[in-house]
Amino acid sequence: MAIQKVAIVGGSGTLGAEVVKQLLDAGFDVTAITRNESEATFPDKVTVKRADVTSVDSVKDAISGQDAVISTAASAAAGGQKVIIDAVIAAKVPRFIPSEFGIETRKYRDTKLGRLVGAKVSNTDYLIELASKYDWFSWTGLSNGLFFDWTLKRGSTFVDPKNHKFTLVDSGNELFSASTLGFIGKAVVGILKNPSETANKYLNVAGIVTSQNKILEAIEKFTGSKFDISHTTGDELEKIGDEKIAKKDFSAFIQYLEQHLFADGAGHGLKPENSANGLLGLKEEPLEDTIRNALA
Ligand SMILES: NC(=O)c1ccc[n+]([C@@H]2O[C@H](COP(=O)([O-])OP(=O)(O)OC[C@H]3O[C@@H](n4cnc5c(N)ncnc54)[C@H](OP(=O)(O)O)[C@@H]3O)[C@@H](O)[C@H]2O)c1
Repeated sequence: MAIQKVAIVGGSGTLGAEVVKQLLDAGFDVTAITRNESEATFPDKVTVKRADVTSVDSVKDAISGQDAVISTAASAAAGGQKVIIDAVIAAKVPRFIPSEFGIETRKYRDTKLGRLVGAKVSNTDYLIELASKYDWFSWTGLSNGLFFDWTLKRGSTFVDPKNHKFTLVDSGNELFSASTLGFIGKAVVGILKNPSETANKYLNVAGIVTSQNKILEAIEKFTGSKFDISHTTGDELEKIGDEKIAKKDFSAFIQYLEQHLFADGAGHGLKPENSANGLLGLKEEPLEDTIRNALA
C-alpha cells in the first residue's frame, strides 16, 4: 500500500520541524497533531489539528484517515506515547513510526543508558505485540546516532564551538554514528516510500561515522582557531553518571551517552552491514560540509 497521507505528532519540535519539511518536499500530505495548549506554528501547506494527547479518542479523531503516523514527540513525552499508539490502532492507521531517533534501544535496553530510555523500549515492545496481533498494522523504528548539526549549533558538554572548547573522551579516536536533522527527515521519507521493505523493522542509519578527533580537526580548520582541549575518560563519565543517578538526577543521561558514543572500545560507529542507508536511499554526509552548514 502506498503511503500519501501522513500525520506527525511533535512536528513543531527540533526534529519534527525538519521531518515536516522533508515530508512536504517529498510530496506527502502532512497533518500536524499539536497539543491543545501548544503555541506551535507550522508551514502553510500543513493541515493543523489540535488534540488532547492524553486522550485516545481525541488523538483518534485527529488522525483518522491517515496512512501513517509519525511521532517526533519530546523525550519527556515518551511515557505518554502509549496513548498515541492506542489511537493509531483505534483509527486503524496502518503504519506508525515511534519517537525513537537516538541510540539503538533494541540492542542497548539493558545498559545504564538504555534503562534511562525505558519508556521508548516499552513503546516498541508494545508495537511488536500489536503488529503480531493485527495483520493490517506495522511499525518502523529508527536509530540515527547523535543529532549532529543540532549539537554543533547549540554546543554540548563535549563541544562548545562558541567558546572554542572541546572535551576529548579517552583517546578521542573511537568511531560513533551521527546524523543531521535533515538526514533523519530524509530517512523518515525513505521509510514511508518503502513500506513493505521497512515494515516491522528497527533500522539503523548514520549520516556520518566519525570520531571526536576528526571533528575537532575539522572544526579547528573551519574556524581557523585552536580549541582549548580538556580530557576525560569513559570510566570518569560513568562514575559521574552513577553519582547523579544515586541522587535521582537523570541528567546522568548525558554522561552515559558520551561514554556510550566516545569511550575507547565502545564500538558504536554504524557498520555497513547493519546500515539501512542504502535501503532508504540515503547518501552519507561529508564531515566538512556538515560542520560548515552547522556553524556558518
Ligand atoms: N539523537 C539525538 O541526539 C537526540 C537529541 C534530542 C532528541 N532526540 C530524540 O528525538 C525525538 C524528538 O526530540 P526533540 O528534541 O525533537 O523534541 P522536542 O523538540 O523537545 O519536542 C517535540 C515536540 O513534542 C511536543 N511535546 C512537548 N512536550 C510534550 C508532552 N509533554 N507531551 C506530548 N508532546 C509534547 C511539542 O509539540 P507541540 O507543541 O506541537 O505539541 C514539541 O514541539 C525524541 O525521541 C528524543 O529523545 C534525539
